[in-house]
Amino acid sequence: MQSEAEPHALHAAIIMDGNGRWATSRGLPRIAGHRRGVEAIRRTAEACPDLGIGTLTLYAFSADNWQRPADEVGGLMRLLRSYLRNETQRLARTGTRLSVVGRRDRLPAGIPEAIVAAEAATVEGRRLHLRICVDYSARDAIIAAARRLEGGEATRESFGQMVAGEMHGSPVEVDLLIRTGGEKRLSDFLLWEAAYAELHFTDRMWPEFGEEDLAAAMTDFAARDRRFGGLKSSRVMVAA
Ligand code: IPE
Ligand code: IPE
Ligand code: MG
Repeated sequence: MQSEAEPHALHAAIIMDGNGRWATSRGLPRIAGHRRGVEAIRRTAEACPDLGIGTLTLYAFSADNWQRPADEVGGLMRLLRSYLRNETQRLARTGTRLSVVGRRDRLPAGIPEAIVAAEAATVEGRRLHLRICVDYSARDAIIAAARRLEGGEATRESFGQMVAGEMHGSPVEVDLLIRTGGEKRLSDFLLWEAAYAELHFTDRMWPEFGEEDLAAAMTDFAARDRRFGGLKSSRVMVAA
C-alpha cells in the first residue's frame, strides 16, 4: 500500500499561523485554535504524497514563542506531548517518517525522549518526510554553525550541513514556502534553506487549512518560473 516518495518529490514548508486569531474570533481560548491546528497538520500531511510533495516542514513553535504567556506555552507543550504519543502509530501506518527539528535542551522533561522514540518508530516511512520545527530559530542555527567554523573554510554545501545539524535537521532546500494567517513575513524560519523558495501567502487561518488550500498553493507554484539567478527557466513539474 505504501509507495515510495517520487524521486522528484518537492519540499514544501509551512508557517502555520493564525491559530490564536481563529480561536479568538470565535470567542474561544487561543489553545482551542492550537488544538484544531493539530487536525490541520494531519489533513495537510496526508494530502502531500498525492500532490507530489515528498518532504513537508512545519513551523510549530519558534524560539521566540517562549515569550508567550506561560499557560499558552504549557498548552502547546502538552499538545506536542500528546501528538508524539498518539500520532506515531498513524504516521508509521501511512508511511510517514517524522523528524523533529529544533533545540531539545529547553523542552519539558520527557519530550526529548518521546521525540527520539517517535523518530525511531517512523524511520522506515518512505511516502512522506514530515519535519516539525519546535524551539526552532534559523538565525540561532546560522550563528551556532558560524561559531563552529574552523579556519573560515566552508562551502555552501558544508555550511548548509552545519546549519541543519545545529537544529537536529538534515540539509534541505525548500521549494515552496507557505504562510497561512495573512501575515507576509518569515519570522526566523529556514532562512538558509529557503534561499530560492517560491513564496505563497494565504489569508486562510491554519486551523481551517486543508487539502484544497495545499492544492491551490501547488497550482500557484506550478505557474512560477524558477531561474535560480540564471536566464533559463526551469518550470516545475507538479503531480496532476
Ligand atoms: C501559530 O499561531 C502557532 C504558533 C505560533 C505556536 P499563532 O498562535 O501565532 O496564532 P495568531 O498568529 O496569534 O493568530
Ligand atoms: C511564527 O508565527 C511561528 C510559528 C508559526 C510557529 P508567530 O505568530 O510567532 O510570528 P510573528 O510573531 O507573527 O512574527
Ligand atoms: Mg502568529
